[in-house]
Amino acid sequence: MLVPGCGRGYDIASFARAAAASASSSSPSGDSKNKKTVITGWDYVPEAVRSAKEWLESPESGLAELKRRNGSSPLVAVEVEQADFFQRAFSSSPSFIPFTLAFDYTFFCALPPPRREEWARAYSRLLAPGKGLLITLVFPCVPPPALGVDELPREEREAFQASFGTRELVEDAAKAEGPPWPVSLEEYKRVLLSDKGALFELVSCEAVPAKLSHRGRGGREMIAVWRRTTARKANENDEKLSAL
Ligand SMILES: C[S@@+](CC[C@H](N)C(=O)[O-])C[C@H]1O[C@@H](n2cnc3c(N)ncnc32)[C@H](O)[C@@H]1O
Repeated sequence: MLVPGCGRGYDIASFARAAAASASSSSPSGDSKNKKTVITGWDYVPEAVRSAKEWLESPESGLAELKRRNGSSPLVAVEVEQADFFQRAFSSSPSFIPFTLAFDYTFFCALPPPRREEWARAYSRLLAPGKGLLITLVFPCVPPPALGVDELPREEREAFQASFGTRELVEDAAKAEGPPWPVSLEEYKRVLLSDKGALFELVSCEAVPAKLSHRGRGGREMIAVWRRTTARKANENDEKLSAL
């Protein structure tokens, strides 16, 4: 699994804990025939890589405890590399094994909007044709889906209403500066589903209930899952592209 633009690595730790829990519930005896899950984080800023490594080693991440329990044959491993997402995607060698899963959170919105098509094409190179899944946590979503905002604590609810509760402010946000640049599901569709683009199909999409979001982000997130289309479809599209 790939987490590009992993920053301090919080998502890596969450996925590692979830993968370990799922591995131990499907094989309580720790059966070593289970396939190993490797979660790879990339960030091109050395400082981010250093702090991600530190955090993942720290007791707060919960991974040290996992390591202690799993001993020398862990079913889940994490690795963080200093790497440019685009450079890795477009320079992959023939022996490169594509990822089956990627998680994109506040990476898309951190990129300057003119790089969005390139972002989509990079994922199409990195994910396995026909089965690779890309999970995008769409934030800051404009217009905000606002699901469950009424259930937030009063202070957060009022902050949401003040900033994102009116049409004018939503329109202002669309013209905002970044990062984070405002995003929308339509924008993801534009670059991921376009037949000149990265050749994905939309598997599912839903608004994230406000209480599940990070503090201050409630009501402004959607989660969408995309599948990399098959190699055959990809080839057809490449042919279309070269005919342009
Ligand atoms: C807003 S942060 C997101 C961090 C993390 N995903 C999170 O949710 O906590 C965006 C990260 O993307 C990294 N980044 C930006 N462009 C990148 C690139 N081309 N390759 C790798 N990392 C990149 C930045 O260094 C930064 O750590």
